[in-house]
Amino acid sequence: MKLSMLLPVALAALFAQDVIGVIPGRINREEVVRRFNPKRTESSQTTPMQVGNGDFAFGADITGLQSILPYGILSSWGWHNVSLPTVPGETKIEDFTGLDWETHGRLVNYNMPNPAQPNISQWLISNPHRLNLGRIGFLYKGLELTEQDLFAKSQILDLYSGTIVSTFTLRGQEVKVLTTVDPYFDVVAVEVHSQLFRDRSLSIFFDFPYGDGANKFEAPFVGDWNVEDKHKTTLLRDKWKNTATIRHDLDETTYFTEVNWEGVKAYIRRQDPSCHRYILTPGECDAFKFTAAFFLLQRPDPKPVCEVRQSAAKWWKMYFESGAFVDLTSVEDPRAIEVQRRVILSQYLLATGGAGKDPPQESGLTNNGWYGKFHLEMYLWNSLHFARWNKFWLLDRSTDMYERFLDSSIIRAKDQGYEGARWGKMSDPSGRSAPGEINSLLIWQQPHPCYFAELDYRAHPSNATLKKWDKILTATADFMTSYVFYNDSTGHYDLGPPLYPSSENTNPNITVNPTFELAYWRFGLRVALEWKARQNLTVPDNWLAVAENLAPLPVTNELYDVYEGIEDMWKRNSTTVTDHPSLTGIYGLLPAPAGFNKTIMRSTFEMVMERWEWESCWGWDFPMLAMNALKLGEREKAVDLLLHENFKFDEVGMPVGGERVPTPYFPASGALLISVALMAGGWDGDKGGKWPEGWREAVRAEGFDPSV
Ligand SMILES: *[C@@H]1O[C@H](CO)[C@@H](O)[C@H](O)[C@H]1NC(C)=O
Ligand SMILES: *[C@@H]1O[C@H](CO)[C@@H](O)[C@H](O)[C@H]1NC(C)=O
Ligand SMILES: *[C@@H]1O[C@H](CO)[C@@H](O)[C@H](O)[C@H]1NC(C)=O
Ligand SMILES: *[C@@H]1O[C@H](CO)[C@@H](O)[C@H](O)[C@H]1NC(C)=O
Ligand SMILES: *[C@@H]1O[C@H](CO)[C@@H](O)[C@H](O)[C@H]1NC(C)=O
Ligand SMILES: *[C@@H]1O[C@H](CO)[C@@H](O)[C@H](O)[C@H]1NC(C)=O
Ligand SMILES: *[C@@H]1O[C@H](CO)[C@@H](O)[C@H](O)[C@H]1NC(C)=O
Ligand SMILES: *[C@@H]1O[C@H](CO)[C@@H](O)[C@H](O)[C@H]1NC(C)=O
Repeated sequence: MKLSMLLPVALAALFAQDVIGVIPGRINREEVVRRFNPKRTESSQTTPMQVGNGDFAFGADITGLQSILPYGILSSWGWHNVSLPTVPGETKIEDFTGLDWETHGRLVNYNMPNPAQPNISQWLISNPHRLNLGRIGFLYKGLELTEQDLFAKSQILDLYSGTIVSTFTLRGQEVKVLTTVDPYFDVVAVEVHSQLFRDRSLSIFFDFPYGDGANKFEAPFVGDWNVEDKHKTTLLRDKWKNTATIRHDLDETTYFTEVNWEGVKAYIRRQDPSCHRYILTPGECDAFKFTAAFFLLQRPDPKPVCEVRQSAAKWWKMYFESGAFVDLTSVEDPRAIEVQRRVILSQYLLATGGAGKDPPQESGLTNNGWYGKFHLEMYLWNSLHFARWNKFWLLDRSTDMYERFLDSSIIRAKDQGYEGARWGKMSDPSGRSAPGEINSLLIWQQPHPCYFAELDYRAHPSNATLKKWDKILTATADFMTSYVFYNDSTGHYDLGPPLYPSSENTNPNITVNPTFELAYWRFGLRVALEWKARQNLTVPDNWLAVAENLAPLPVTNELYDVYEGIEDMWKRNSTTVTDHPSLTGIYGLLPAPAGFNKTIMRSTFEMVMERWEWESCWGWDFPMLAMNALKLGEREKAVDLLLHENFKFDEVGMPVGGERVPTPYFPASGALLISVALMAGGWDGDKGGKWPEGWREAVRAEGFDPSV
């Protein structure tokens, strides 16, 4: 059984027994965490303030609800399909053919949109899509609020207890709102204090949008609010009880919202039959408390609001007190405090919207990118930090994805003539990967299980860990060894073509032996081989042959190349110096691969710093470069990279996406945490803190292990 599934009580007991890695605190973590409680005095037009439990999150505007701006209520289970196309020949998923591309002398079928089948191709890309489960907000005398109706606005998120406290005045009366999400159930709990309830002028609405998958990016808001006739809501209530349930039917998807209120009687009604808005008006009171539970089938037992808050407070305390922690607050260098802020807020937000049963999407549970699907290559940046910060109990919630997706990944490989399991790319919870030229030619997600497994074993060196990952690593390594092409003239095993490297900006038909992927193949196979050795099992000959004879890392003029044979790679303003500079990931994120030359690496890092087009970079690029800098001994530069002008986090800690991706872009947060863990723990052969001059004496770090 997974830790995350245990009852709260059992989890708390384990916590007390130090099972999940609590270190008797030298650092006063509570004080450090609370120092970074985000504050706002008005709604942000781009990001909500968020509370959540990893599988479910609620985005609030300045009112603590979604009164003014319809920020999302997203979950890991709320998904929806529109009906299949009706165009002849494209009415079933089985009709989709993909495309055959020549691959080293044979035709391989790739999961790419087929121009002859535009409708079923697009359907598979945009279905299922993630739903926004609803909107909850205040009405004043039945009317919606605007930002200008409110005065003395103030909002604070208490990170250490997972509660947002919002206060404002409306028509001269103060309103105070406490907003919390239950750590174990998909329930938002709200407590409102206001004299406006005295004459029933303040009420609460619940509204429900449709989801049509029409847009790849739905940010900052998710859902279609203008197609009332495409979906159905039904109010179910027992007028003698303080409860009401709203059933929401969207095609084949049905889910429920159960509202429970405390103390006073309240009246709930549909605003009018043509809309999906329900208005809950409390009777005369000074304070009103309610919970809204969202679920597919299993209705959570209602709990009083104060119990939800207590439960959340316990959980968040446990979260911050467990695993590793770093305190930079005594460092004089002004850069340190901003690094610390980003660390604390990233930790909060990744547990809020990026710690569920599936790998998180890039925008977590804030809004939708890529239809709300998750990318398996991004799982590393999104979730590896839980391992590096010794919070495996959260990582474990989703790593069984590899088990769940194993069979379909074996079929994917087999259909293409390969052994083992070819992990998919842009996925939904069923493991289906969305059609796409890049999606089907990207390969750097393949070794990820090896990285997760290796860190798991280092933290938990037991037979159970070996067993847990063995089947996955075997299938992974089998694919990796059968995917390479033996090159008769060089005696080496080559990667591609066709393939896309992690930067996704080269011609796949000529991309061969990309540096980062070659290094990652070496690392992945090394781990897989070691895994067998640890179990005293025979090492497959073909794994060894490939691991030892992979093509060398390509070098031109004493600099690493993005891929072998790339022309004039360092030309200024050329596309070859844009996008993710993954060639720096081979020594930082990854351990130095066989055949690695540090002199060449240093020159390459310096060349990247001089030539790369920073406007074309985003998210994890900067922490990845910072890790490269750290391993090269450039600690000052590493800190500068973590604060690069193209690497920004807003006032609530949401990582800014930019032109290429919507905000928030959480791989940035995960990568930041991975790089700070490297700074705090060092790596194999050079462990211990790698802080800049002047930081060392003032930094306090606990619980970090050296990285690979
Ligand atoms: C969407 O359709 C696919 C294909 O039939 C199915 O596997 C999946 O479960 C459906 N998802 C939802 C949320 O209906
Ligand atoms: C790559 O090759 C495929 C066919 O094998 C072709 O359809 C595609 O246009 C080529 N792409 C480029 C960028 O040359
Ligand atoms: C099928 O796809 C084409 C191309 O995207 C589009 O123009 C057309 O409207 C679609 N047909 C239907 C019935 O959706
Ligand atoms: C793992 O299993 C082997 C063989 O069953 C046993 O000899 C060994 O003691 C076990 N190791 C641990 C750490 O339990
Ligand atoms: C073998 O490697 C050489 C040198 O890297 C390359 O030029 C050649 O195209 C490769 N052969 C095949 C069949 O890919
Ligand atoms: C592998 O063999 C070594 C040495 O004989 C032994 O100590 C270890 O327990 C064995 N491990 C397993 C998993 O069998
Ligand atoms: C490269 O682009 C930058 C900004 O876009 C411009 O200022 C510079 O002149 C360009 N350099 C070359 C060699 O084209
Ligand atoms: C590393 O590369 C540099 C520059 O090409 C070269 O001078 C040096 O001999 C290489 N070192 C090793 C150990 O191969």
